[in-house]
Amino acid sequence: MVGCMTATRAATSSHRFVHRNLLGIEGLSQEDARLLLDLAESYIEKNRAADKKHAILRGRTLINLFYESSTRTRTSFELAGKRLGMDVINMSVSNSSAKKGETLIDTAMTLNAMHPDIIAVRHPESGAVHLLARKVNCAVINGGDGCHEHPTQALLDALTIRRHKGRIGGLIIVICGDILHSRVARSNMRLLTLLGAKVRVVAPPTLMIPYPEAFGVEAFHDMREGLKGCDIIMMLRLQLERMQGNFIPSIREYFHFYGLDREKLSYAKPDALIMHPGPINRGVEIDTELADDIHRSVILDQVEIGVAVRQAVLEVLSATEVMQ
Ligand code: CP
Repeated sequence: MVGCMTATRAATSSHRFVHRNLLGIEGLSQEDARLLLDLAESYIEKNRAADKKHAILRGRTLINLFYESSTRTRTSFELAGKRLGMDVINMSVSNSSAKKGETLIDTAMTLNAMHPDIIAVRHPESGAVHLLARKVNCAVINGGDGCHEHPTQALLDALTIRRHKGRIGGLIIVICGDILHSRVARSNMRLLTLLGAKVRVVAPPTLMIPYPEAFGVEAFHDMREGLKGCDIIMMLRLQLERMQGNFIPSIREYFHFYGLDREKLSYAKPDALIMHPGPINRGVEIDTELADDIHRSVILDQVEIGVAVRQAVLEVLSATEVMQ
């Protein structure tokens, strides 16, 4: 079937992506990650052209099933699918039968009966997307599940770094903020260490993960120590929606110790870049002037590259299906 009309570049690559779903970075090989990054790279220029449509997945259906709010991930999956010629359905959970008590599994099996090819899911519970993937016979993409994983975010972060720095291996990358509740941090720790970066995490003790060494990263509570000599600073939002109780004394104190400002930035390399997955809380985790500094901040590049990464993931998972 590789030579048929629906065969894609992913299907004909020398490395075969054998995964049916993209549920996390965990389980991916270096070759899998590189295949996705290389394919995504090829979409960036195409997305800047006037005609952005390359209908290699015409006839396929993508359903976006988001149980949590999203601007970047949901919109970029929609754009990615449409630019590849897919029919894209955005399920608004607030207007769906989930509001009448239908379970995630019943919703998944109902959608499955309509023969989608790919479902992209965001859910507040860690592991919910894995559960759903066992109940459907189409491919499933994790668009963020609880505190667990957000694989397409990590892939777009890795590609943003690679495009700006020319490599990932050997770079010192600092992830700073609410590490404990962050699926972005977990996926990035996995992916960036897989690709050879030296990853540090910086957080107050209340917002640090229990065993950072299990991820192969170095942990710091002093932000200036953590930033010393780094190439990349990835700031994270406080995930207030996942906190039960008080994890910080006050926003003002949090910004004083863990907010990125010019003074703390001076501990990083002079050409260190600032990243943030968004949405940003200005004045909470990052000084507003730094977030907008076109010489240091690559936050909007991350958004642009997010569309290309999601195109690559849709292409690769469709190619996996074609080859089965
Ligand atoms: N980074 C990210 O997942 O953003 P959204 O919540 O807007 O999708």
